[in-house]
Amino acid sequence: MTATAIQLTAAAGFDRTASRTGSDIPAESSAKELRTGSGLPEAVREPEWRVSIKGLTKIFQGEAGEVVALNDIDLDIKVGEFVSLLGASGCGKTTLLRIIGGLERSFRGEALLDGARIAGPGRDRGFVFQDHRLLPWLTVEENVGFGLSHLKRKERSEIVGDHLDLVGLRSFARSYPSQLSGGMAQRASIARALATDPEILLLDEPLGALDALTRMHMQDELERIWKAKAGLTVVMVTHDVDEALYLSDRIVVLSPRPGTIRRIVDVPLARPRPRESYDFNRLKKILLEDFELSHKEIQPEFAI
Ligand SMILES: Nc1ncnc2c1ncn2[C@@H]1O[C@H](COP(=O)(O)OP(=O)(O)OP(=O)(O)O)[C@@H](O)[C@H]1O
Ligand SMILES: [Mg+2]
Repeated sequence: MTATAIQLTAAAGFDRTASRTGSDIPAESSAKELRTGSGLPEAVREPEWRVSIKGLTKIFQGEAGEVVALNDIDLDIKVGEFVSLLGASGCGKTTLLRIIGGLERSFRGEALLDGARIAGPGRDRGFVFQDHRLLPWLTVEENVGFGLSHLKRKERSEIVGDHLDLVGLRSFARSYPSQLSGGMAQRASIARALATDPEILLLDEPLGALDALTRMHMQDELERIWKAKAGLTVVMVTHDVDEALYLSDRIVVLSPRPGTIRRIVDVPLARPRPRESYDFNRLKKILLEDFELSHKEIQPEFAI
């Protein structure tokens, strides 16, 4: 880690999420002490991490032999935090997201949700895939209400309406997915994931298929939706350094073969984040250096 990155990480602290959610989450070191035993009885000890991953290794049996998709991953994610998984193709981002989502169950190590082992998918986690995966024969409102069949009609319809409002699609409730633009379909997909009131939203390159301008607009939408749902934890896979910097409290940089955490970068920038600011671009340069994509010094006078 470069000296600059260390300084930025240290300066970031652990308070930004707490101020947004109103929660009082301890700093990392004291949280670890709590986890390993604070002496308090179990009933009064709040789980301090929404997601806690320790020594996680995932090996696939491929055609050409074993593929170590993830190797000895340690990662803790706080309640209400927005974390991005950033890295080159094949470094295990989707695999890690699927493990948190309970879609991938065979691995070595520990994956906990609110202190309990992740045993499978659940309503507490909403998944948004890279392609929106809306059911083409259902309307937008039927797609959004798809996971709510256990509820009475009136309650279901209220929840669907609220979530269509949240993503700005109320007037398209009766439209079919084929009648939506790419950005609208992704918003419908996010509404569907949120309708079951999950505690965690898992996003696998949710904006990857969108053009640059729609994508920036959708990043604002995502931030707005995240803020509107108090305590919502978001884990988002992205290839896009700007997107990760714009949205994340922390960025987990992964490297491939085997998939490991190269570093975790705190993003101590106030929101909404001006993409042209010097601090934004300084962090961007550090991240691009990780991918060997940055060769030039940033001149502060040109960045103001
Ligand atoms: N079901 C599977 N069977 C065999 N190998 C797999 C399987 N799923 C993933 N892998 C391998 O595990 C590694 C990590 O895959 P993963 O899909 O998690 O990467 P990723 O970081 O999401 O990549 P991308 O950015 O291209 O989506 C890759 O080498 C991939 O080939
Ligand atoms: Mg992937």
